[in-house]
Amino acid sequence: MSPDQLIVEFDRALRTILAPARSMRPLPGAALPDAELPAAQRSHVAGLMRVNHCGEICAQALYQGQALTSRDPTIHDALRSAADEETEHLAWTERRIAELGGRKSFLNPLWYLGSLSLGLVAGALGDKWSLGFLAETERQVEAHLNGHLRSLPEDDRRSRAIVDQMRLDEIQHAETAVRYGAAELPSPAKVAMKVMAKVMTGVAYRF
Ligand SMILES: [Fe+2]
Ligand SMILES: [Fe+2]
Repeated sequence: MSPDQLIVEFDRALRTILAPARSMRPLPGAALPDAELPAAQRSHVAGLMRVNHCGEICAQALYQGQALTSRDPTIHDALRSAADEETEHLAWTERRIAELGGRKSFLNPLWYLGSLSLGLVAGALGDKWSLGFLAETERQVEAHLNGHLRSLPEDDRRSRAIVDQMRLDEIQHAETAVRYGAAELPSPAKVAMKVMAKVMTGVAYRF
């Protein structure tokens, strides 16, 4: 990597972690009224949104790592544009956390570094495995968001609208990865990813 490229990548990382994310699409559910939630429920929802925000920080880092080590320019571009869409998820969850009076995870820089390393490794394994890892990640995120839709209060329509749209986008991301030639990961790898995600979401909910 050239020094110039290194600076660009470093800048991308800093912006993801520190700067407010921007969204091209309007915030899903922006016109919906905010629900009157009891304090405990409000902080539960803020915790769920913190987990989702943290997941989107990880998605940025994964995509960045994978794009850096990807060999095929078409796949490289596809990874970059998927990352742009994840930036919108970052913006939406950030906004909802603020509305709920919550805070983002203290550990975001750590999550970013961990996911970047994982992305670099996945990318280095070659495009079909890298895409396979991506497709599996997106499927697991979809399942995770389904869980959030079960856990979110029925009348918190603003949070639900965001999670709903994210879920639809993640399904698309998985399908794109498959279209570009994702390999199916071996079961032990899938299980390891689930365990890792479980630890991460548990920690991010609290910290
Ligand atoms: Fe996302
Ligand atoms: Fe995604």
